[in-house]
Amino acid sequence: MKIEIKNLTVKTKDEKEILKNFSLTISEGEVHAIMGPNGTGKSTLAKVLLGDSAYEVISGDILVDGTSILDKTTDERARMGIFLAFQSPISIEGVSNTEFLKTAMNVRREEKIGLYPFLQTMNQALKDLNMDEAMMHRSLNQDFSGGERKKNEILQLKLLEPSFIILDELDSGLDVDSLRVCATNIANYLKDHPKTSVLVITHYPRILSYLPLNYVHRMNEGAIVETGDMELAKKIEKEGYLRDNVLREDVNHE
Ligand SMILES: Nc1ncnc2c1ncn2[C@@H]1O[C@H](COP(=O)(O)OP(=O)(O)O)[C@@H](O)[C@H]1O
Ligand SMILES: [Mg+2]
Repeated sequence: MKIEIKNLTVKTKDEKEILKNFSLTISEGEVHAIMGPNGTGKSTLAKVLLGDSAYEVISGDILVDGTSILDKTTDERARMGIFLAFQSPISIEGVSNTEFLKTAMNVRREEKIGLYPFLQTMNQALKDLNMDEAMMHRSLNQDFSGGERKKNEILQLKLLEPSFIILDELDSGLDVDSLRVCATNIANYLKDHPKTSVLVITHYPRILSYLPLNYVHRMNEGAIVETGDMELAKKIEKEGYLRDNVLREDVNHE
């Protein structure tokens, strides 16, 4: 899936401008990373791509394979194959994980999946992710640890077969082993689905080292300010984002 974000300016309901003339093109099958300090608008970008109604697009456009999706609801975007692994996955009491997955899977299918093939697919995915089968019978994400919630997001990904994957700080709250398992599962998914595009929001190069990375972008105050590759990610890990602020302070002192 090709995603073109063109000069996107986005405000919150209380008129706070978060994304400022933001542009980024992710071609089919490419993996892009965005790194940037807290509060710079990374999660907002992810949510706006999914059509979150908490945000208002003031100007610009989002094209998917050449067609604007701005008038599409979150539900329609999900059906198109856009998938967001949330920074903080929500829990829903009373809806079992299994029910949730089966309903979500059927949304994207012409024909409903039968119970047996569904269970087979789910059990294989659980094994791939080193997840406990018992978790499937509990309410969605209820009493899951931070790491289990994140793994559950990747389980959903594997079952939903998206064409555009957005990972919002998947690596926060994951221990190194769980991160490797999650990232390897995504990498394997990409091998099997080479047309899938990915946007990875992260602060750390580690997750990127598992993925077929094409570009790393540094974001500051609602826009991309620098583009590079893995070297840029390593440089940011070493030096931090502070130089943006240092530069700004220099200007302020004049
Ligand atoms: N729905 C909202 N209403 C008001 N302010 C918001 C909303 N969503 C995000 N913000 C603010 O916008 C800024 C960017 O937030 P966010 O996109 O979560 O940043 P990041 O993910 O880069 O840390 C923050 O200052 C945040 O408080
Ligand atoms: Mg965020």
